[in-house]
Amino acid sequence: MSKRILIAYASRVGSTAEVAEKIGEVLRNLGLDVEVRSIKDVTSISNYDGIIIGSAVRMFKLLPETMKFVNRFREEIRNKPVAYFIVCLTMQKDVEESRTRSKEYLKPLLEIKEPISIGFFGGKMDYSKLSFIWRILFKGKVPEGDFRDWKKITDWAGDLFVYFSRS
Ligand SMILES: Cc1cc2nc3c(=O)[nH]c(=O)nc-3n(C[C@H](O)[C@H](O)[C@H](O)COP(=O)(O)O)c2cc1C
Repeated sequence: MSKRILIAYASRVGSTAEVAEKIGEVLRNLGLDVEVRSIKDVTSISNYDGIIIGSAVRMFKLLPETMKFVNRFREEIRNKPVAYFIVCLTMQKDVEESRTRSKEYLKPLLEIKEPISIGFFGGKMDYSKLSFIWRILFKGKVPEGDFRDWKKITDWAGDLFVYFSRS
């Protein structure tokens, strides 16, 4: 029977949700039984053989629903293979310094369980989806654009397939 994998994502404006869907598509095409869910909607993780947790970052922190999820399922997460991915503007450029900074955001998750892999992905900034106050605060300081690298995301998902198939 194929492995059952949950991809639980936390997204405010949709870019992390799209990354989660892409990872799900790749793993499904490779033959895994994958469910992609908003982290807020997950009520149980007992039926899954592996978990992929993905979160956007806001104000230097993972989204609060990510923390709520990992605290709720802490013990079960410790007993399953897990992978994490992060979608943020710090990863606009994939260089060592960005990865180190992004890994800091993931610290609360890393303290719970060492993952089989971490995906570090650039995010998307679309001013038209932000409230007036954020637009004013970010203007001239935070770049607009879509920094997601779909090849990198697809390749990472392919690597995960190998890990999950072995575990
Ligand atoms: C209000 C706000 C705060 C943000 N804070 C950070 C941050 O502290 N560090 C970072 O790397 N990216 C930050 N970002 C960028 C988001 O992580 C990035 O835009 C991500 O793609 C958003 O994901 P979503 O579309 O799933 O909500 C911030 C974005 C917004 C709108």
